[in-house]
Amino acid sequence: ALQDETIIVVLGASGDLAKKKTFPALFNLFRLNLLPKATRIIGYARTKMDNKGFHEKIADFLKEGDKSESKKAKEEFLKVCTYLPGAYDEDEAFKNLNKEMEKIEKEGSSKTTNRLFYMALPPNVFTVVAGGLKRNCYVEDGNNRIVIEKPFGKDLESSREMMGELKKLWKEEETFRIDHYLGKEMVKNLLMLRFANPFVDSGLNSNLVDNVQITFKEPFGTEGRGGYFDEFGIIRDIQQNHLSQVLSLLTMERPVSFSAEDIRNEKTKVLRYVPPIKEEDVLIGQYAAANGKPGYKDDDTVPKDSNCPTFAALTLWVNSPRWQGVPFILKAGKALDEAKVEIRIQYKEVTKGLFKDVPRNELVIRIQPNESIYLKFNAKKPGLQMESIPTELNMTYKERLEDFRIPEAYEALILDALQGDHSNFVRDDELDVSWAIFTPILHAIDQGKIKNESYEYGSRGPQSLNNFIGRYGYRRDNESYAWPTTSVE
Ligand code: BG6
Repeated sequence: ALQDETIIVVLGASGDLAKKKTFPALFNLFRLNLLPKATRIIGYARTKMDNKGFHEKIADFLKEGDKSESKKAKEEFLKVCTYLPGAYDEDEAFKNLNKEMEKIEKEGSSKTTNRLFYMALPPNVFTVVAGGLKRNCYVEDGNNRIVIEKPFGKDLESSREMMGELKKLWKEEETFRIDHYLGKEMVKNLLMLRFANPFVDSGLNSNLVDNVQITFKEPFGTEGRGGYFDEFGIIRDIQQNHLSQVLSLLTMERPVSFSAEDIRNEKTKVLRYVPPIKEEDVLIGQYAAANGKPGYKDDDTVPKDSNCPTFAALTLWVNSPRWQGVPFILKAGKALDEAKVEIRIQYKEVTKGLFKDVPRNELVIRIQPNESIYLKFNAKKPGLQMESIPTELNMTYKERLEDFRIPEAYEALILDALQGDHSNFVRDDELDVSWAIFTPILHAIDQGKIKNESYEYGSRGPQSLNNFIGRYGYRRDNESYAWPTTSVE
């Protein structure tokens, strides 16, 4: 349940994540009356400024709702937001923050003290800040929660080291590791789609499914953050976390209940069936200048000999009884031809005999944009002949569920954290298992043993991609068929 009179401290309040995601999400929760009663928000960062300066900084990012309503809501929201400048590595600064919180708490009437620390911080200060907060801002007889977000290390070893340090300070039940894909409506829908629909779940196994692709595409490059990106690369940025989360929700067995631990037990278990990725199952790429857009290495902050992938296609094998033998291709890329995140499940060939060449069934779960679920299937072409035509069963949210507002991922997650619900956060052992799958190939890439294939900015990715996917059985049928999205986009 929500605890009234909660103080939310956003650390790194003047940074990009806080401005673009955290505060807008908090604003929407506030505007929709979903925050605990008498919530107060304190922005904390090193930059010196007063409340007014801070309000000006975040105000432009607070949008939504109709204009007049939104203006009033914004004023009300800014009234509960204050700013406190302070260092990340000094006890004195955190003592000061503590005093500020005590002052607010004294004015209130709540019997319990509820503090949530949201760390919108770069990884090099995570542990220091977590320590400073624990020593100076932790209330023994209240609720203390800490929210952190990737990068959680760079490989299995560094992740264990970082998590180990944090664990000395904050208990697992106090720690909320964000993977914002777990807050997306369609990702949350996976459990419902599978386990509330016998016909869907009974078709998800190696008897029926030929191959699965989980795809993340972005139409822009790393312009402006190339230096940061170069340390990580696309696999650490997208596959190890976001796409692995989608994979585990898609492949896990039915949980005993919707409780956080029941769900996370099943997710962790299925990932344990996945062996480390082999080098032969990897295709990586880096984008080059094209169509008037700069190449990855044209960024001054990127080393000229960088072997950092901005695209990767990785085939994972889930050796569980349900999935053994089915390839799961996790693809992610920057500077591609479109923005799209989807799961594409391709079913096996129709038994020969009656038909010569009917396309395979495909179940597509479109995570973004334009949330939808559609099934490509074959029908009889209307008319006097006995011919098949590919068509689809189409459940597009904007058409069928248009009355509902789809919340932003961060809204859902902040609310969960305020309620103490861990279902949509990453558990320590889950993180560990997922790093184990990716670490060997990450090291091989870092050492230059696997080389990038160049692709043009704005293209579909490296030239050999089609070949790569084809190797795992994917059949591109009916080039002429396209899912009809035009009416809603
Ligand atoms: C972040 C990555 O985790 O996810 C970014 O670091 C990426 O590189 C972003 O752009 C994508 O998130 P979304 O919600 O826009 O799909």
